[in-house]
Amino acid sequence: MSTVSFADLVADEPEPIASARAHAAEVGCPAIAPAVGTTLAALSTAVNARAVVEIGTGAGVSTLWLLAGMRPDGVLTSVDSDGEYQRAARAALNDAEIPTQRARLINGSAADVLPRLADGGYDLVFCDAAPGEYPDYLPHLRRVLRSGGILAWHGVLWRDRVADQSARDADTVAWRDLLAALKAEKTVRPAVLPVGDGLLIAVPA
Ligand SMILES: C[S@@+](CC[C@H](N)C(=O)[O-])C[C@H]1O[C@@H](n2cnc3c(N)ncnc32)[C@H](O)[C@@H]1O
Repeated sequence: MSTVSFADLVADEPEPIASARAHAAEVGCPAIAPAVGTTLAALSTAVNARAVVEIGTGAGVSTLWLLAGMRPDGVLTSVDSDGEYQRAARAALNDAEIPTQRARLINGSAADVLPRLADGGYDLVFCDAAPGEYPDYLPHLRRVLRSGGILAWHGVLWRDRVADQSARDADTVAWRDLLAALKAEKTVRPAVLPVGDGLLIAVPA
């Protein structure tokens, strides 16, 4: 068994999330791997998350993993520009018996919604949407994160293209720009976790 498969096996995905994953595949929406999910849940628990923002709800797989790690009274705000995927996510949340008030699903683009989120209001911010826009999001993400919170982005390996210097497509370049911006900031501590397609985390110092 490969290391990746082993990490996913250890994640031991609960049934409602496994069902959401199956439905995500049916509607053609990519979803984070179980090992990414269990990492997100652990990070949410580590910061005792009461409020989380997710950019890229998809069909709700990562949404459910984040909620699993949050406080029982925690509220997750999740943004997606695709209404059909978000309807699938709402169905997955209902199937998992998540109370409606715990998940605020916003149909819209991240660029429109991020500026409206409260300063310092969130314990964890997770992005899994449009890498080309991530460098532009960074000032907003820093603004909405509370002191001691965690920023996270899924896909930093970008199917091994970020490490391949001959790859120059726009998304790959945007990932490199984001990594460079985080390193240049000095006031955040970034780390790449090789789970799934790569989880980039950054903790403001
Ligand atoms: C990879 S899927 C998210 C999967 C989800 N995080 C999961 O693991 O279950 C990416 C999602 O980002 C959404 N998206 C792409 N660009 C966006 C943008 N600019 N603003 C908001 N959502 C966006 C897509 O509609 C899609 O549902």
